[in-house]
Amino acid sequence: MRQVKTLGLLGTGVIGGGWAARALHFGIDVIAADVKPEMEAWIRGAVQNAEGALSRLTFAPLPPKGKLSFTTDLLAMARQADFIQENIPEQLELKQRVLADVSRVAPADVIIASSTSGLMPSDLQKSMVAAERFLVAHPFNPVYLLPLVELVGGSRTTQATIEAAGRFFTYIGMHALHVRKEIPGHLTDRLQEALWREILHLVNDGIATTGELDESIIYGPGLRWAGMGTNLIYHLAGGEPGMRHMLKQFGPCLKWPWTKLEAPELTEGLIDKMVEGTQAQAAGRSIRELERLRDDYLVDIQQVLRKYNIGAGATLRAVEERLYNAAAESAATNADAPLRLVETEVRPEWVDYNGHMTDSRYLQVFGDATDALFRRVGIDDAYRKSGRAMYTVETHVSHLAEAKVLEGLYVSTQLLSVDDKRVHLFHRLRRTRDDVIVATCEQIYLHVNAEAGKASPLDAQVHSRLDAVRAAHAHLPAPEQKGRYVGMPRA
Ligand SMILES: NC(=O)c1ccc[n+]([C@@H]2O[C@H](COP(=O)([O-])OP(=O)(O)OC[C@H]3O[C@@H](n4cnc5c(N)ncnc54)[C@H](O)[C@@H]3O)[C@@H](O)[C@H]2O)c1
Repeated sequence: MRQVKTLGLLGTGVIGGGWAARALHFGIDVIAADVKPEMEAWIRGAVQNAEGALSRLTFAPLPPKGKLSFTTDLLAMARQADFIQENIPEQLELKQRVLADVSRVAPADVIIASSTSGLMPSDLQKSMVAAERFLVAHPFNPVYLLPLVELVGGSRTTQATIEAAGRFFTYIGMHALHVRKEIPGHLTDRLQEALWREILHLVNDGIATTGELDESIIYGPGLRWAGMGTNLIYHLAGGEPGMRHMLKQFGPCLKWPWTKLEAPELTEGLIDKMVEGTQAQAAGRSIRELERLRDDYLVDIQQVLRKYNIGAGATLRAVEERLYNAAAESAATNADAPLRLVETEVRPEWVDYNGHMTDSRYLQVFGDATDALFRRVGIDDAYRKSGRAMYTVETHVSHLAEAKVLEGLYVSTQLLSVDDKRVHLFHRLRRTRDDVIVATCEQIYLHVNAEAGKASPLDAQVHSRLDAVRAAHAHLPAPEQKGRYVGMPRA
C-alpha cells in the first residue's frame, strides 16, 4: 500500500469535517468531496472550530499543517487521493453505489474505508473493484480528539489492508482497534446502544429524567471508564478474588434481569421526554458552546491519562514519541548549523496580562528543545527507565523582543560543550515571520544516576553522539549572550 500524503474524503458533514481536522493537523493534505457545494464553507468552518482544542492536545513538534481543498467532483478526488475515507449518510444502497463508482477510478493500491456506524463491510464492498482494499474504519465524534477507530474487514478484505490502514490511523494519532468478526454495529456501538436502550426504557417508564441518568454516569462510572473500561474496573470491584467473585456476586442479577433487552417503542411521548430533558440540561447553551466545553475537557482528560500512560493517554504518548523522533531526524540533516528542534506558536492560554508570552512558557519551549536534542542522542524514555537522567543545574533566559498571541516561533540550539557529565547548551527562540530573536537561553545539564542521586558519567554512545554535535557546532561563533550575568551591561 502507498504512503498516505493526501486523504480523500467522500462526504464532508460532521464526520468528514472531523477527519479533515485530524488529518490536516498531522500534516496530511485533504481533498474533501461532497455533492453539495455549500459544504465547502461548512468544512472550512469545522476545521477552524477544531483548531482551538487540537492545538492544545500536544506540545510535540508537529509537521506543517496539511492543505485543504474542496470539490464536488467525487471521481476527481478519487484519482488524486492516497487513501479514501467515505462519510456519506448511513444508507446501504447509497454507500454501495458511491463506493463502487469511486473504486472504478481510484488506483488499486488506494485503500477505501467507510465510517459507517453499523453496516457490514461485506455488504458495502459487494460491487467494488479491487474490493480487497476496502474496510470499515469507524471513528467517534469528535474525530479530531477521540483516538478510537474500529477497523473491520469484510469477506473480501485482506489482512494487508487492515494492517496498512492501522498504520495510517496510528500515524495520525489514533488507536486502531481491529474488530475481528464483522457484526452489525461493530463493538462500540453495540455497547453504546445497550446503554442507550436502558436509558430510553427508564425515561419511557417515568423512572428518571435524561439529566438524572446522565448524573448517574458522570459522577461515577464515566470517571472510571476512560482509564480502565468496564471489565478491568469490574475485576477490581470483586476485591482480592477479582472477576470470579464479581460474577458470583452480581451474575445472578443478569438473570432476574435488572435490564430489558428489547428497545421501547419510540412514541411521540418518549421523543418529547428525551428532547425536553436534554434541552433542560443544555440550559440555554448552544451546540457550539457545548462542543467547545466538551472539546476542552476531552483534551485535559487525555493529558491526565498521558501522565499514567493508559488508554487514550498512551495513544497520545505514542504519537508524540513519533513526532519527537521525526523532528530529531529532520534536524540531523543539517547538523553543522544550530539545530532547529522546536516549531510552535504562542497559544492563547500562554499570554499574560500584557498580551505577551508569559515567563513560564519560555522555559517550557526551551525545555522542549532540550528534550528534542536529548532524544536525538538517545536520552529517551527507555534511557530514563534505566535510572539515568539529565538534571538542569543552571538556566539563564534573556528576553530580547516581544512574542504576541498566535505568533509563530522556533527554537534553534547550539551545543557549546560536553564532557563526561555535563552538557552546555545555548538556545535561540526566534519569530518565524522575520527570524528576530525573541529570547535566548543558556543551560547547563548534569548527568545523574537517579537512584544514587549522584552525578554519573554519560553512556558512552550518548556521549559520542553529543560530541559529534559539539564538533559540528565548533565553527559557530560564540553567542553574544553566553556567560552573561544578571544586570551585566550590554556591550
Ligand atoms: N455523527 C456521528 O456521531 C457518527 C459517528 C461515527 C460514524 N458516523 C458515520 O459517518 C457517516 C456520516 O455521518 P455524518 O454524521 O457525518 O452525516 P452528515 O449528514 O453530517 O454528513 C453526510 C454528508 O454526506 C454528503 N453526501 C450525501 N450524499 C453524498 C454523495 N452521494 N456523495 C458525496 N457526499 C454525499 C452530504 O451532503 C453531507 O455533507 C455515516 O455513515 C455515519 O453512520 C457518524
